[in-house]
Amino acid sequence: MTTKRPIRNLALIGFMGTGKSSVGRLVAELMHFTFLDTDYVIEARAGKTISEIFAQDGEPVFRNLEKKIVQELVPRDKTVIATGGGLPANQENLNSLKTHALVVCLWASAEAIYDRVRGHEHRPLLQEADPLGKIRSLLESRAPYYRQADVLVNAEIRSVREIAIQVIHQFHMAQAAHR
Ligand code: S3P
Repeated sequence: MTTKRPIRNLALIGFMGTGKSSVGRLVAELMHFTFLDTDYVIEARAGKTISEIFAQDGEPVFRNLEKKIVQELVPRDKTVIATGGGLPANQENLNSLKTHALVVCLWASAEAIYDRVRGHEHRPLLQEADPLGKIRSLLESRAPYYRQADVLVNAEIRSVREIAIQVIHQFHMAQAAHR
């Protein structure tokens, strides 16, 4: 665990398909917290899907929208934040989340992720001839960021509910330790 700091929120990070949104929604419901999904906020603000943003405006525009949301999250309280898979692969974003949230990473192997996301067409980064290869290389380049989470949870074998309960337990322990 890291040094003393205020923990008011919970941020879920991790690769696409690890279940951040499903787990986050359940955690928020069980804890009576607000749920916020950065991808959803971006789509609502832009009035278009993430695939459309990538295709029409390019990935850098999307990453700037992510950065802006991260900054806006700082004053929040009692919020469960599900982040896009690439959001914490920016050290400033990750540092900012850590100033107010317990950062929990949901982890799964490239193969398990591939099984979960194959056939989904709403993830522009995986619309490739070799999606598994792309998952492997992205996962490798992002691992140094994901590993900076306060807590790493194996999301490969457990159910959404089991993972949610484990996340809530970690949150309560961290809050007690940082009080
Ligand atoms: C991305 C992950 C997606 C979404 C965008 C880019 C990434 O979110 O933000 O397609 O860079 O890994 P999910 O992790 O919720 O799929």
